[in-house]
Amino acid sequence: MKSFFLWALALFLGCSVAADNTSKLKWHGKDQAYNRTGTYQPQQYNYTTGFDYVDPLIGTSAGGHVFPGATMPFGMAKAVADVNGENQGGFSSENGNVMGFSHMHDSGTGGSPSLGNFPIWPQSTCHNDDVSQCSLQQFDRAVPSMPGSVKATPGYFALELQTGIKAEMTVTNHTALYRFTFPEVPHPPLKGPLSPLIHVDLADLPGSRSNASVLVDEKTGRIIGNGTFNPSFGIGHYDLHFCADFQGAGVRDTGVWINDRAGSFPKHTQVTPDGVNGNNSPLLAAGAYVRFDAPKGNRQILVRVGMSFISAKQACENAEREIPNFDFKKTLTAAEDAWKEKLDVVKIEPGGVDNDLLKTFWSGIYRTMISPQDYTGENPLWKSKEPYYDSFYCIWDSFRSIHQLLTILDPQSQTLIVRALIDIYRYEGKLPDCRMSLCKGFTQGGSNADTLLVDSWLKGIVDKVDWETGYKAMISDAEEEPLNWSVEGRGGLTSWKSIGYIPIHDFDPYGVGPFTRSISRTVEYAYNDFNIATMAKFTGRNDDYEKYIKRSQNWKNLFKADQRSEIARTDTGFAGFLQPKTANGTWEYQDPLVCSHEANFDGCYLNPTGKETYEGSPWLYTFYVPGDMATLIQTLGGPDTFVKRLDFFHTSKIAYIGDEQFFLPVFLYHYAGRPGLSAFRAHYYIPRLFFAAVNGLPGNDDSGAMGSFAALTMMGIFPNAGQNVYFITPPFFKSVSIKSKVTGKTATIRNINFDTEYDNIYIRNATLNGRPWTNNWISHDFFLEGGVLELTLGPKESQWGTRPQDLPPSLSTGSLGHRSVPKKM
Ligand SMILES: *[C@@H]1O[C@H](CO)[C@@H](O)[C@H](O)[C@H]1NC(C)=O
Ligand SMILES: *[C@@H]1O[C@H](CO)[C@@H](O)[C@H](O)[C@H]1NC(C)=O
Ligand SMILES: *[C@@H]1O[C@H](CO)[C@@H](O)[C@H](O)[C@H]1NC(C)=O
Ligand SMILES: *[C@@H]1O[C@H](CO)[C@@H](O)[C@H](O)[C@H]1NC(C)=O
Ligand SMILES: *[C@@H]1O[C@H](CO)[C@@H](O)[C@H](O)[C@H]1NC(C)=O
Ligand SMILES: *[C@@H]1O[C@H](CO)[C@@H](O)[C@H](O)[C@H]1NC(C)=O
Ligand SMILES: *[C@@H]1O[C@H](CO)[C@@H](O)[C@H](O)[C@H]1NC(C)=O
Ligand SMILES: *[C@@H]1O[C@H](CO)[C@@H](O)[C@H](O)[C@H]1NC(C)=O
Ligand SMILES: *[C@@H]1O[C@H](CO)[C@@H](O)[C@H](O)[C@H]1NC(C)=O
Repeated sequence: MKSFFLWALALFLGCSVAADNTSKLKWHGKDQAYNRTGTYQPQQYNYTTGFDYVDPLIGTSAGGHVFPGATMPFGMAKAVADVNGENQGGFSSENGNVMGFSHMHDSGTGGSPSLGNFPIWPQSTCHNDDVSQCSLQQFDRAVPSMPGSVKATPGYFALELQTGIKAEMTVTNHTALYRFTFPEVPHPPLKGPLSPLIHVDLADLPGSRSNASVLVDEKTGRIIGNGTFNPSFGIGHYDLHFCADFQGAGVRDTGVWINDRAGSFPKHTQVTPDGVNGNNSPLLAAGAYVRFDAPKGNRQILVRVGMSFISAKQACENAEREIPNFDFKKTLTAAEDAWKEKLDVVKIEPGGVDNDLLKTFWSGIYRTMISPQDYTGENPLWKSKEPYYDSFYCIWDSFRSIHQLLTILDPQSQTLIVRALIDIYRYEGKLPDCRMSLCKGFTQGGSNADTLLVDSWLKGIVDKVDWETGYKAMISDAEEEPLNWSVEGRGGLTSWKSIGYIPIHDFDPYGVGPFTRSISRTVEYAYNDFNIATMAKFTGRNDDYEKYIKRSQNWKNLFKADQRSEIARTDTGFAGFLQPKTANGTWEYQDPLVCSHEANFDGCYLNPTGKETYEGSPWLYTFYVPGDMATLIQTLGGPDTFVKRLDFFHTSKIAYIGDEQFFLPVFLYHYAGRPGLSAFRAHYYIPRLFFAAVNGLPGNDDSGAMGSFAALTMMGIFPNAGQNVYFITPPFFKSVSIKSKVTGKTATIRNINFDTEYDNIYIRNATLNGRPWTNNWISHDFFLEGGVLELTLGPKESQWGTRPQDLPPSLSTGSLGHRSVPKKM
């Protein structure tokens, strides 16, 4: 998903222009004689581990929306300083003022900001020692941070406020721990002795709170409370609870505050939406505070904030269990160790590449493990023994590469995630496509969890997974239209089954949703049906196979062979594009360039005036037949024409790599027998548009989707989601090794003739465990069984991987690939 804002256009153009001059990309390998031969001597090299290269601040400006704060892998607690401005991830590197420190976030999302509930705020003293003269409300208290004071590493975030207070934070799974260090004397204009006040605000980042309640204990200073909030890209509301405890200074007094007034009696307050207006605008600001004596010694006060979706009691229990002694160092070390354990399954031999590339790579992996979030034991909606994960934000973004990367690096977590998805189907009646904060989020196109599930099934994700129910869930997507298909399942199923496409101006009295995106939904539903057909075939459900494989070809029904495309009244030279069609079979017209940067980029969002293709043009969606690329290539005029079209797409302003649908077209050259061009295209985008800086992402990270693209591409194994296929391209490093957590075996991809200038990016030939490997793709067996894939590189395209028998499977060439199942360890 990309954000619904015009700045996306400006940023994209600005970013690509600026980056062009700094790019190290070689457009064509140097025309030098190929004369290097490599002899591999593994003992010669030192491998690097990833932890030190993770920079959580990558993607915190220019629309990346990355959450850079402290989190455990897949953790629920996510602590950071929230700034004003573009704050979808809480913090951003765009010089906003800090307005609070809050404990839960999403990362990289479009839509409105997420979560950021119950921010706390420290002050050194209150003017005239009067609590009501402290800065209580958000707009009043916000201050800049000290330039250069921001520090972020996995599990840790820190900055210094211009009030002289240093704020550090770390987390466990459900609890945030803050360490505030106060100045010796309060900074002007505040006058008076050091007597810190810390208050909690019953608010969230999008300002969605309705009912809320807070209570402060006058002896201990413990503050507990709850609130009702809205999800940031979905329907309904959710309740959240917190429990804040303090350590480091004596409690002087306590109380509650409302608007800009505070008092030490009563100790409890409850707020509801404005009774007069019956709505929430403006939000009534309220909360509770604790005022302290001057902290002794190092002038530090620790604040521990436990979170729970169940109750304040459970929030307190989470905090007491996870951080019993307020030990900051121990908590931080545990978080760091958890990240090291996740990252250590990958080893790379950099081969002399720039540190920035290493940072882009490791940070990309890191960001794919921020969400989805493990809320097991925190789900108030139903009782179940299955795990519960949330913040699938959105599967439309994540099914293409995030879950594939997790399946390779962290199959245990991917297994829990799959079980959680199936359990959501069990209790909600449908698989989610977008889900956050216990609520249903908006669907953007296909029922993409189908693709995610089949991908995992093909790659041996089996442990305690109820695949029978998983299959039923997919059939439900394919067969039963929900009343509200704007938040689950598919719309237009009656037309889909009867005429074989989603018509423009569909007549659909069976459900409600935005009646737009007829072209993109057609190709997406077709591919979802292909995925179901795949699982049907391998499980012997032959009738289902026949039915869904037929429906998987429905994309053909919107292919208009004579449709041409002009840029500035000049024909682009290509014939045949997807076009909208009415239910009675007459064509309508959408310029194949709409909604690309060539024409009306912003015309295809989720609103009633959105066009027939979602966040992309007919040019883009005409490439989307992932299950039968062989037929598509023939339909578009054969491999040569196809390659020209793909080149045109990437080198015009039609392709926009900042949105996830554009990932796969980087590698589609493989199907035209030109795997070298996929490698070339990979270097065309990385590092030009993916680099190690706060503005180093081309679009919303979307829970790590951009990170997973960079990581998989740099590893040389980009997947075709929903199939047991990884496209082979040379890693951006001398070698990459991955140890399977399922089998304990190590898979290594090693470049011979690797050079840091990336002149040698074309595979001359390849061996797997010493024997020739001629397929230009490989299956998940490689990661389960381990081995060494050795790629001999050169500066020019070669014959390797170009023959018909070398290409990845396509329906029309008679294969759906195979399923990889792990042998026991
Ligand atoms: C490269 O930099 C030069 C000089 O700063 C500038 O004039 C030119 O427009 C830039 N080119 C691109 C493609 O960014
Ligand atoms: C091989 O390459 C090196 C530098 O890369 C060059 O100096 C040398 O002349 C080349 N040898 C041949 C035979 O081309
Ligand atoms: C690898 O690291 C070790 C320990 O830091 C060092 O002694 C050794 O020289 C390094 N080897 C190479 C080839 O850099
Ligand atoms: C944190 O959660 C993860 C799963 O998301 C779990 O594996 C881990 O054990 C938990 N850590 C602690 C200390 O409970
Ligand atoms: C807020 O509280 C009122 C009064 O208790 C209740 O009627 C209403 O349903 C609550 N609203 C929400 C969204 O929970
Ligand atoms: C919030 O806390 C108040 C006071 O304890 C309680 O009455 C109310 O039911 C709670 N609300 C929710 C949604 O748990
Ligand atoms: C259906 O979804 C829309 C958002 O598209 C929402 O406004 C509406 O409340 C939902 N209706 C139901 C019954 O859930
Ligand atoms: C088909 O439907 C379109 C609009 O829905 C209408 O304009 C056209 O006349 C119809 N054509 C036929 C042949 O019924
Ligand atoms: C790979 O290519 C090199 C250089 O052409 C050649 O020496 C070698 O025999 C080839 N290996 C295989 C397995 O084809």
